[in-house]
Amino acid sequence: MSQPIATQTKWIRKTFIGDSKLPIVYEPAEERTLDEFIDWFQIHESEWREDLKTYGAILFRGFPVHEASDFQSILFSTNEKHLGEFYLGTSPRDEVLKHVFTASELPPHYPIMQHAEMSFLDNPPKFLFFYAEKASAFGGETPLTDLRLVYQNIDPKIKEKIERYGIRYRRRYDGPSSQKRFSIWKTKRWDEMFGTTNLDEVKQIAEKNRFELEWSTVDSLTITNQQSGFRTHPIANTIAWHNHAQTFHYQAGVTETWKIFKHQKTLRSLGVALLLTVLTGLKRVLGPNSHDVHVMYGNGEEISPKEMKSITNVFWNHLVAIPWQTGDVLFIDNFSVSHGRLPYTGPRRILVGWAD
Ligand SMILES: [Fe+2]
Repeated sequence: MSQPIATQTKWIRKTFIGDSKLPIVYEPAEERTLDEFIDWFQIHESEWREDLKTYGAILFRGFPVHEASDFQSILFSTNEKHLGEFYLGTSPRDEVLKHVFTASELPPHYPIMQHAEMSFLDNPPKFLFFYAEKASAFGGETPLTDLRLVYQNIDPKIKEKIERYGIRYRRRYDGPSSQKRFSIWKTKRWDEMFGTTNLDEVKQIAEKNRFELEWSTVDSLTITNQQSGFRTHPIANTIAWHNHAQTFHYQAGVTETWKIFKHQKTLRSLGVALLLTVLTGLKRVLGPNSHDVHVMYGNGEEISPKEMKSITNVFWNHLVAIPWQTGDVLFIDNFSVSHGRLPYTGPRRILVGWAD
């Protein structure tokens, strides 16, 4: 930690970790109760909101946040009117308490590439809140990237195409008859995603979100939708890279796993990278129509593997991966900062909430 910053509150100190200004870290300078922390939160709402807008993420470290209900109390104390309840995202999640979910039930070796939460929707969440109920012994960071910097540093040719055409997503999902919760490319079933097996309800949700649905059988649903790819912050007016290209492009996974191998240097990460290299080669041969998840420019032009690699490089050039400590709470401005997950070993439970 370095560079303490003056704060209006004597018992809360603000710092940064290393040279990065992402996230800003709030720490208690003296021991206080959770109730006192929550009181502070409500009284100093304008202060932390201003920091969240400026830095894009705040890490609250060392506060007495011991269980999911403590995290839920913090969510309530934000005064956000629309805390998340219905999750239309791609990670398999379990509800823990009202507004509190497990961040992802994907297996520990599975990397989650950088993305802004639910960026493929018309109205993605404004804020994302994480809580480290149990930090893992190794890995498992939730790396962050400043999407405003990504927007500024992306290859101008890619930027121009996204500006002109937007981004198109196509995803294929199994249905209720499938016993599997996820496969390597399909991270959940459609009934899990829509929270229902009722086809009329699925249609309604799809219409509301401008999803085009195409059923092969009831157990094979293809969802197509289009988005702008960049978004302007509703308050700060800054422009950010805001799409799921990395999560859905077949090249991104393999580039990511090699970067993870360089970062973690474990035998398992080498094995995952090698396996994905073979599988990705196969996917390239089979072509885009065979891909369960696929992302392209809005005019139907493919995002080439070379373009995708350059996108991933920009992310990794700005990536900040801080190991979790049990009890950490992280606030993210979803219109400024992306998140992901590095593979891990040992028990780990990260909870999540969001505000629309
Ligand atoms: Fe996410």
